[in-house]
Amino acid sequence: FSAFLTDSFGRQHSYLRISLTEKCNLRCQYCMPEEGVPLTPKADLLTTEEILTLARLFVKEGVDKIRLTGGEPLIRPDVVDIVAQLHRLEGLRTIGITTNGINLARLLPQLQKAGLSAINISLDTLVPAKFEFIVRRKGFHKVMEGIHKAIELGYSPVKVNCVVMRGLNEDELLDFVALTEGLPLDVRFIEYMPFDGNKWNFKKMVSYKEMLDTLRQQWPELEKLPEEESSTAKAFKVPGFRGQVSFITSMSEHFCGTCNRLRITADGNLKVCLFGNSEVSLRDHLRAGASEEELLQIIGAAVGRKKRQHAGMFSIAQMKNRPMILIGG
Ligand code: GTP
Ligand code: 5AD
Ligand code: SF4
Repeated sequence: FSAFLTDSFGRQHSYLRISLTEKCNLRCQYCMPEEGVPLTPKADLLTTEEILTLARLFVKEGVDKIRLTGGEPLIRPDVVDIVAQLHRLEGLRTIGITTNGINLARLLPQLQKAGLSAINISLDTLVPAKFEFIVRRKGFHKVMEGIHKAIELGYSPVKVNCVVMRGLNEDELLDFVALTEGLPLDVRFIEYMPFDGNKWNFKKMVSYKEMLDTLRQQWPELEKLPEEESSTAKAFKVPGFRGQVSFITSMSEHFCGTCNRLRITADGNLKVCLFGNSEVSLRDHLRAGASEEELLQIIGAAVGRKKRQHAGMFSIAQMKNRPMILIGG
């Protein structure tokens, strides 16, 4: 495996998350401030060609999974073409997308033809009125349509990301689990994480342990599934149900020890940790005509500075990071 993508703790970074845009058609409370975020001028965002040049380089070095994120990745007009071009990269085994689902039903047939292999859809509530409150826009039925389209087209499991917030949707855990009885979903309950402008506080966070207790009261037979390598999620299943449920425990039980992820932001920064604020502009080096070797040196140096683990929830709640919408998860 590439030395440039291996950090000082021996972690091999084979998973790259690329943000395709800073824009979104929703305004989720946990992701961005109500007033929005100042948008980067278009000239400072990566072009499609630059995205593909970087993807090619990372895949050559051993990245075998790329996930497209945003903002909302399905807003980028040439997203289908980007997937198609990534699909031609030899060595790339998985192309995923994390989407809010609004445009999914419409675009999925083309995306699938282009080579999209995995879909994660954000959905935090099963109550339409609450959906509008959380995301500050309409669209609940579009998202449900997207989820069903993904199932119909054979994606399995279709992952549903549910950010759990006290006082907002923690009363819906059992309803989400019940969805997995008949549908091949992986419902992932995510601990609420702090990012700039999202008003995180400890009391709003519902921990993994607490969620698991709630589920066990209803389904004592809930069964833990074997851990997948470098997964963000701890998976469980109610025996007999078609789907499963998982927990993403970044706050109460981080999984940094097996981290294999790097990120490229829409404005071309390499971000080696979700909660790290030391970034390096690959865009500037690309535009200055850096050679592949020079780019790899820069990438290798950044990966080499990656910390063993994030600084702990209270420290990261204080630090200056980006708002989530400018990271992509
Ligand atoms: P898979 O690629 O299917 O394993 O999904 P994923 O969990 O890696 O990505 P997704 O975009 O669906 O994100 C789900 C949740 O996990 C979001 O809240 C992300 O912010 C969080 N997440 C994704 N990657 C990381 C990571 O490297 N570290 C931490 N702490 N959280 C992450
Ligand atoms: N805490 C936890 N998860 C978050 N996401 C967005 N903001 C947060 C947050 N503050 C999730 C979204 C999406 C994924 C990319 O990240 O629900 O599914
Ligand atoms: Fe990796 Fe940073 Fe996430 Fe930990 S917090 S798993 S080091 S990206």
